[in-house]
Amino acid sequence: MRTYKNDFPIFTNNPDLIFLDSAASSQKPQQVLDDITYFCKNHYANVHRGAYSLSLQSTHKIETARQEIAEFFGTKKQNLIFTKNATEASNLFISGILQYIQTYQNSTSEPIEILMPLSEHHSSLLPALIKTQYNKQIIIRYIYPNSSGIFHETDFEKHITHNTRLIICAHISNVTGQKFDIHKISHIIQQKKKQYNMPLYFAVDASQSAPHTPITFDSLLCDAMFITGHKLGAGGIGALLVSHTVSNILSPLCVGGGIVHDVHEHEYSFLESPTRFEAGTPSIENIIGFHSAIEYLKNISFEKIIQHEKQLTQYALEQFAQKLPHFTLLGDKNYTPVAPNKSSIISFYHPTIHHSDIAILLAEKNIAVRSGMHCANPFHHYFKLKGTVRASFWIYNTHSDIDALIQALQEIEKMFVS
Ligand code: ALA
Repeated sequence: MRTYKNDFPIFTNNPDLIFLDSAASSQKPQQVLDDITYFCKNHYANVHRGAYSLSLQSTHKIETARQEIAEFFGTKKQNLIFTKNATEASNLFISGILQYIQTYQNSTSEPIEILMPLSEHHSSLLPALIKTQYNKQIIIRYIYPNSSGIFHETDFEKHITHNTRLIICAHISNVTGQKFDIHKISHIIQQKKKQYNMPLYFAVDASQSAPHTPITFDSLLCDAMFITGHKLGAGGIGALLVSHTVSNILSPLCVGGGIVHDVHEHEYSFLESPTRFEAGTPSIENIIGFHSAIEYLKNISFEKIIQHEKQLTQYALEQFAQKLPHFTLLGDKNYTPVAPNKSSIISFYHPTIHHSDIAILLAEKNIAVRSGMHCANPFHHYFKLKGTVRASFWIYNTHSDIDALIQALQEIEKMFVS
């Protein structure tokens, strides 16, 4: 199999690096760096504001990028709002939709319930949790995992009530790597909406899934999706995918230049979506990088990416089982990488060695992992864990990276336990 490592200059410049932290942020292919540099040297100017040639070129480039990035995620360009990252996308959607529900859809004293798995990343949890501090009508209800840390999609059915107005779910958990069946959850939601004849919005956090699996937003029947570019090989850029109907009811999170039809001394009118959500000068060169990263992945194909990651994950799970029996993996121990709900993230802990000690000792061996609660504190508190160590793989990882991790963990265990 072709090794993709050579496409990423970080590995040429750091030949001993074992990078197992792509779930935090991935490395950038040379193609992305080249495309950004070329664009800045040849086409750069502010967009949507100038009549001169460079500004027109720059505008054309980012609108072409919008079109092709939207297609990559299975939707139309009108449905793609550029944001700084997935966190900005989730804040824009969650605060906007809750504002709308409070103002227009809740004239009674009934609670406004938000439902999410306990493993949600803080970027999805906190924008909702903050609202509960100011409005006691808003309540968060959680779906809890089984004893291995795995959630069952059918639990959504049990927990949706006639007061549920918003459901948030990560496509892939950034802690366990569980891949949720979004089609199945959407189907349950559609049935419940009919049963109760109520408005109910569904947002999917695709931060961890977008680099690893194809996404077809329009076929998923969700109202919003959060994407970040920095896990896809780009940086400083993300997107909110949102249906046209829902974009019309959201208020911008940030206002300023470029988003108005007109402003008078005491009045204003906004332009249509996506423009009215993109106040100020956008991150122009990073949109170019995002486009380039998508092109890079398209050229490889998800078929190859998925096959490569499955082989690596299978190998890593086997190696853990054979050589590191004292380590516990979060997530179902019976997972096999051929199971559709396992992706290339493995979080683990040792009964007596602190997660930070493991990460620091791995770092001394040039192995990059993440340790701690991975911005999913409630999930770790539920299991009474102070933290876990997370190894995550992407296209550039190899079997020898996993061998290095396993050997290093064996050595660390020996240091502490013997
Ligand atoms: N959300 C990123 C992670 O899980 C930063 O590490």
